[in-house]
Amino acid sequence: MKMKEGHLVYRRTPIEKESPEEFGYERIKYNLAESSVSDFILGNLDIDLTDLALSYTDHLGNPQLREYIADEQVNPDNVLTTIGAAGALFIITTSLLKPSDHVVILHPNYVANLESPRAIGCQVEYLQLTMEDQFQFSLNKLEQLIQPNTRLISLTYPHNPTGTMITESQLNEIISLIESKGIYLLFDETYREMTPDPLPIVGSLSENAISVSSFSKAYGLPGIRIGWLISQNTNLMENFLAGKELIFICNSIVDEEIAAHFLARKKEFLSKVSLHVKTNQEILTRWMKTSDYMEWVEPSGGVICFPRIKSSVNIDIERFYETLKMKYKTFVAPGHWFEVDKRFMRIGYGYPSKHELESGLQCITDAIKDCVD
Ligand SMILES: Cc1ncc(COP(=O)(O)O)c(C=O)c1O
Repeated sequence: MKMKEGHLVYRRTPIEKESPEEFGYERIKYNLAESSVSDFILGNLDIDLTDLALSYTDHLGNPQLREYIADEQVNPDNVLTTIGAAGALFIITTSLLKPSDHVVILHPNYVANLESPRAIGCQVEYLQLTMEDQFQFSLNKLEQLIQPNTRLISLTYPHNPTGTMITESQLNEIISLIESKGIYLLFDETYREMTPDPLPIVGSLSENAISVSSFSKAYGLPGIRIGWLISQNTNLMENFLAGKELIFICNSIVDEEIAAHFLARKKEFLSKVSLHVKTNQEILTRWMKTSDYMEWVEPSGGVICFPRIKSSVNIDIERFYETLKMKYKTFVAPGHWFEVDKRFMRIGYGYPSKHELESGLQCITDAIKDCVD
């Protein structure tokens, strides 16, 4: 007899199903959908792993690697390496939450921040950012969403997909709020180092705050699948470690070795990257300012922005994305990947070369022209 499926916990989301890697990188000419800097090539990192024994490794993570990540802001034992920031988010939410818990999540957001609490069955409410409010964070609105059973607030800054930031004084107000209410703060700071003046590691500010980050975005090494979480709360850390051990025991020793080598020479590797990002940001800003079709909130962190096709533009939006992808071989991250109107699109300007960005932006303009009445 065929088994009845009953309730299944996970669902694949558009951002994963329609991602560039699932579509096929070789079919894309101008990839403006990535939220990272360009991927590093292994050969350019000068790493020789010939003598590395392919054993299990420290369950918390390679000690040298954790020391680099701690960056003198926390104790290296407050750092737990994970499989990407995605792995950290999964460990944190499944360790902390049960269905009767209320969770407040910044929206729009990276999908795992939304889907993990939903999969657990938590009561989820959203702190909604809107273009009309310049995507600005409001402590007042956050306070109003808190319930007696709120266990976790989940924020992401620099923000994905808008590229907006909060100030250090806003961050301190958030910390005071979670401490006074006895609520945990999950702070996804995956894009932290992609601002000229990064906020402190949020996990260093309070025992209630947990930081999440990774090698994928600011460093351009998503293929090694190394992320981390940071917490000063030893009980929580013991639980997170137990979660990690249940899912994958420890990270790949090869990945962690590459990650530690990279951080030892981080400044050198990233100096060219920041010049590239600056040039591309200027190209993007020029394009936005001269566009008849688009409106935006200028980004202040990360390498992404979230512009929108103006409501006055009469466009067949489905045909636009199809034309952009198939005729112009250009990829952006459409609004529905973030559960908002498709007139929004996330444009990543750190990943493409200068030429690819210029051409890709021109293709967006051309695809709009092809699809307006
Ligand atoms: C805010 C944010 N957090 C976490 C992730 C997961 O990244 P990874 O698992 O590659 O570190 C992403 C990926 O897009 C992201 O944008």
